[in-house]
Amino acid sequence: MNKLQHRRVLLGVTGGIAAYKAAEILRQCQTLGAEVRVVMTPAATEFITPLTFQALSGQPVHTKLLDAEEEAGMGHINLARWADVILVAPASADFIARLASGMANDLLTTLLLATDKTVMLAPAMNRLMFDDANTQGNLRKLEGQGVVILGPGEGVQACGEVGLGRMLEPEELVQAVAEYFQTGELAGLNVLLNAGPTREAIDPVRYISNHSSGKMGFALAQACVEAGAHVTLVAGPVQLQTPSGLERIDVISAHEMAEAVMAKSKQADIFIASAAVVDYTPVEIAQNKIKKNASEMQLTLVKTTDILTDVATQDDSTFCVGFAAETDNLEEYAKGKLKRKSLDMIAANWVGKDSGGFNSDHNSLSVYWADGEQQIGSMPKPELARELITLIAKRYHEKNSA
Ligand code: PMT
Repeated sequence: MNKLQHRRVLLGVTGGIAAYKAAEILRQCQTLGAEVRVVMTPAATEFITPLTFQALSGQPVHTKLLDAEEEAGMGHINLARWADVILVAPASADFIARLASGMANDLLTTLLLATDKTVMLAPAMNRLMFDDANTQGNLRKLEGQGVVILGPGEGVQACGEVGLGRMLEPEELVQAVAEYFQTGELAGLNVLLNAGPTREAIDPVRYISNHSSGKMGFALAQACVEAGAHVTLVAGPVQLQTPSGLERIDVISAHEMAEAVMAKSKQADIFIASAAVVDYTPVEIAQNKIKKNASEMQLTLVKTTDILTDVATQDDSTFCVGFAAETDNLEEYAKGKLKRKSLDMIAANWVGKDSGGFNSDHNSLSVYWADGEQQIGSMPKPELARELITLIAKRYHEKNSA
């Protein structure tokens, strides 16, 4: 399961014999779908070369604080912003001491002062160094500041001694990073989503559709899996990989999408309708390719079933979240749809020329419900999806505990 899909892990490597294991951490994070960038302290480069990490990550490895070229590329502030989580493994006694005292005398310590992201440290050192009152004091201080301390483990150490101080194994550390992202906000709930466009056939070679790529809906489905839900994703024709850990049902037309959604909707605790369902479909599909002899042609279209309204009105217990794609009057139209379609919540976005909505990697949302609203600023769709799912989970639990 790609538990780290779309996650950005910044891996800090400090000087210790366990530094070679960081290469395996990087590889395992990638296997779970993460994008990884590496920052090394000067001492770490004595144990393993930056080239190893560069080859594995396919990205430049950052080692220097005062490097004009790196600052022009991705400097320490940008790196701190880029990461979803920062894992320092191994974290030496010296590094821990410098971090605890708030020093910023290399790139990694500076970066950690400049981040508000979760920092995880995997201490690795001789057992007596680990036991030392200074190291223990430093670790407790950092823990008090919200730093997550992973391990250390017990066993034979590089120095030949036996005790507590070994770095946890790469798979244990990667597991801890993956678990950090599993929020449990929708634990055990059944979530049904639809995503992407539909295609309404005109004849065997032509159809009516729209620009939806499915990116928003797939990111939402992934965020629901991470939040612990059982997820069913009804997908229109899109070119996207299935996020792991969910059931995907592929459909083409609005009619097929309606049938697939209705077949699953009774078991759904939450329905999120991010699909751009085509609103009108040809009354008839021509058997053969329509000839282009005439200078004009007319198509008679009929309205497609409003899938969202059907789910929202069939069973009051399903928490229904709609989307509104607008080119003007965003708030007014979105609030109108919230009411008209009997929804619990609606997420409105701009679509059309130069706006984020359709087919872009970024988007922003204005979310409305009966007695509240929240703006979620422009960000990559995976992040936006997580924010929206947190909001949906909060509203769902409030409604169901009332
Ligand atoms: O797929 P991407 O490229 O990532 O783009 C994302 C998106 C722009 C498609 C997405 O964010 C979005 O706005 N989806 C809804 C698009 C839409 O059809 O909006 P609407 O305002 O026309 O419809 C309102 C709601 O009714 C939607 O939840 C829609 O799924 C639902 N609907 C509409 C028509 C219909 N026949 N059945 C429906 O269920």
